[in-house]
Amino acid sequence: MTQDEMKQRVAEAALEYVEAGTIIGVGTGSTANKFIDALAGIKDSIRGTVASSEATAERLRGHGIPVLDLNDALAEVERLSVYVDGADEFDPGRNLTKGGGGALTREKITAAASRRFVCIVDETKRVEHLGGFPLPIEVIPMARELVAAKARGLGGEPALREGFTTDNGNIILDVHGLVIRDPLALEDELNSVPGVVTNGIFAHQKADIILMGTASGVERL
Ligand code: 5RP
Repeated sequence: MTQDEMKQRVAEAALEYVEAGTIIGVGTGSTANKFIDALAGIKDSIRGTVASSEATAERLRGHGIPVLDLNDALAEVERLSVYVDGADEFDPGRNLTKGGGGALTREKITAAASRRFVCIVDETKRVEHLGGFPLPIEVIPMARELVAAKARGLGGEPALREGFTTDNGNIILDVHGLVIRDPLALEDELNSVPGVVTNGIFAHQKADIILMGTASGVERL
């Protein structure tokens, strides 16, 4: 089975976690896109969605799926019922790195606003320790060198994501070479640097459920 087919299977399996009549959060990326396409088949059963990026909002609207602003949604409901999104890596503690598509900040906000986070991945994303995938940090442009120096001090090698601006108007530094043994501590340490909007470690907002596509089917972790 190809990686694409595994992504398709987990995307379809996540429909089981979509509760009728609720507002759900929707992630960003190729796996999330397959979920959006599958969601189109049951769109009349949900009240609406909150999108984690402009690209996701556009794809949802293309299917005729209502997209709400998060603040408007939270005026109607206490929490979104579920957040469904992919990841770049996950570890045995269900901590994640995300942000390969650059949408990490809105993804983290939407995950935090949801009762549970269902993460949809294929088996290539499973790691013992996070950090093999370069860790994205969304940074206010003025703070680029300040944040880069901090990343170097932690043993990483930051690289500016060339020609990319986030939906919030900021830059991304991708930090190579980190071995993340304490995801919670590193998430906090990086987020404490002035100018960091957020980083791609999802330890505070780790997945509640991981659906992992394998060659033999979908496993729930
Ligand atoms: C986007 C993300 C994605 O969830 C992550 O990059 C995984 O993407 P894909 O499903 O295409 O492998 O965090 O910011």
